[in-house]
Amino acid sequence: MSYPIARHRRLRRSGGLRSMVRETVLTAEDMIYPIFVTHGTSIRSEIPSMPGVYHLSMDLLESEIREIEALGIKAVLLFGVPDHKDAQGTSAYDANGIVQEAIRAVKGWAPQLVVIADTCLCQFTEHGHCGVVHQDEASGIAVVDNDKSLELLVRTAVSQAEAGADIIAPSNMMDGFVHAIRAGLDQAGFSDIAIMSYSVKYASAFYGPFRDAAHSAPQFGDRKTYQMDPANAREALREAESDVAEGADMLMVKPALAYLDIVKTLKEQFDLPVVAYNVSAEYSMVKAAAANGWINERSVVMETLVSMKRAGADLIITYHAKDVVKWLRGE
Ligand code: PBG
Repeated sequence: MSYPIARHRRLRRSGGLRSMVRETVLTAEDMIYPIFVTHGTSIRSEIPSMPGVYHLSMDLLESEIREIEALGIKAVLLFGVPDHKDAQGTSAYDANGIVQEAIRAVKGWAPQLVVIADTCLCQFTEHGHCGVVHQDEASGIAVVDNDKSLELLVRTAVSQAEAGADIIAPSNMMDGFVHAIRAGLDQAGFSDIAIMSYSVKYASAFYGPFRDAAHSAPQFGDRKTYQMDPANAREALREAESDVAEGADMLMVKPALAYLDIVKTLKEQFDLPVVAYNVSAEYSMVKAAAANGWINERSVVMETLVSMKRAGADLIITYHAKDVVKWLRGE
């Protein structure tokens, strides 16, 4: 036989051939689109560090939801920007809070759209931490109190389910949050409501633009006592294992791009759907480079998201979702 024996290029000769042997395909069903809802009327203000992403008031939310449905996106992830913050994050679990109001409205307009509620306190607390803070007596240092936070997170999740959320997505990284929320939901009669756990959430600089968008930057300290160290992969397994044992229905890795090894590991080690969160700075960096003409936005986004699926993500939360489904349709 003459050299070379293997001619890998045979299957790359034409677009038709390449598409026949393509291993990973992005679809509209993979996409989850995050939305920021705010109080007031006629508000559609672009988040400066996230071009193309807006704060929307309730009156302008309906047309946005109609557009999302028409595009074939199946799920949205709702974030609230409240007008009131306090130490206990009370607006997070207020039956008439911004997120609860938005959930009710969206389910009214689009009953088939899957509504996912982010369950955290950081947008609702004046200190910007994801839980309740207390002063440690010995050191005088303010610490986030795990078990007290759980009580409030359970109230938040139950109020979101009462408003009509289909999926609860706790992003707070308190220990035992899946168990506590599962028990709270079941007790309140919401045993059918799924939990998409932010199982492996790193203390990441890639959340910067989101914190501008959600006004949720911590006012002191950082989130390193509850979010994971970017250096750790084995610890990710421990986090995911406890979430599985506590009753999580889906496991999320966040951020996505710098943590594709973790996506792959979770896919291999567990049998639950894996969700990758393509976070704010991943989006902003692409937007900034594209605005400068340094990259082809469409190609870079599609390549990035297909990599997330190739690594094992079943679903991708991304601010690019609307563009992606348009591109998938050939627009
Ligand atoms: C709330 C939360 C954050 C994100 C999602 N939920 C911010 C954080 O933990 O500081 C980040 C999303 C993004 O960057 O796109 N805890």
